[in-house]
Amino acid sequence: MADLTGLMTGTSSGIGLAVAGTLLQHNPDLTIVGCSRRPGPLASHPRFIHWETDLCRPGTALARARRFSQEFSACHLMLYAAGRGMFNPSPEWSSESLEELVQLNLTSALSLAGGLTDKLRKGRGLAVFMGSVASRERAPLGAAYGATKAGLKQFAEYYFLENRKHGVRVMHLCPGMVDTDFYAQERFAPQDGDGFSVDLQSLAQTVQFYFRGPGEKTNPTHLVIEPRMVGIQRKRI
Ligand SMILES: NC(=O)c1ccc[n+]([C@@H]2O[C@H](COP(=O)([O-])OP(=O)(O)OC[C@H]3O[C@@H](n4cnc5c(N)ncnc54)[C@H](OP(=O)(O)O)[C@@H]3O)[C@@H](O)[C@H]2O)c1
Repeated sequence: MADLTGLMTGTSSGIGLAVAGTLLQHNPDLTIVGCSRRPGPLASHPRFIHWETDLCRPGTALARARRFSQEFSACHLMLYAAGRGMFNPSPEWSSESLEELVQLNLTSALSLAGGLTDKLRKGRGLAVFMGSVASRERAPLGAAYGATKAGLKQFAEYYFLENRKHGVRVMHLCPGMVDTDFYAQERFAPQDGDGFSVDLQSLAQTVQFYFRGPGEKTNPTHLVIEPRMVGIQRKRI
């Protein structure tokens, strides 16, 4: 079996961690480079390499793509799962918080993909962008967050248009609410109880299905995966 290599962000927690763990389990020929500030629980895995990375810093994502391109001959999987929310009234936004949000949720994703294009073409790879239902629906106080996710959605579609003739597949994966640390700093979270959030394994198995499973011969251009029930709980922070 040929060796597979992937570059992923957001692998220290939540969705990115679940996807990376599942892919390592199902693909014994896959090595993953994970870019995040914290190493996370996969750090001791023999086929996981952590590169400490702050994706709020301009230029960092492209530098990581270039390093990967120097060290590996091809990229078979790129996953951009780093991100944060921002759900507060617009008069409260600071220029720093806005710039970090756009850099982390959008600009760094574009830079990473752009820097990896040649290696993705070489590996006939799958590029996965973690979008959100916020890219297509309105959510209270979600204007800035929704704008970054709508930009990512549009990028994913154009990136596929540009690269499909070179064998690159693109997945724009849009979950509804998932119970992760994403809500640690927010005033709300998914309601407790069965069916109110998308479980991490559903998302991870979906990526595996299209990466090396029965969906390998198709392109999952936009996938929306929502909880069966809808409900939030408000909290004091
Ligand atoms: N949870 C939901 O309901 C939900 C729904 C739809 C879409 N999403 C999207 O899914 C993605 C992952 O969110 P999650 O729910 O898994 O949240 P999470 O558990 O908080 O994970 C966020 C990930 O992003 C990384 N990250 C944050 N700031 C970073 C920075 N400055 N530099 C590098 N990495 C950074 C974190 O790593 P470090 O802290 O170690 O750097 C972590 O691995 C986000 O793009 C989010 O918008 C989430």
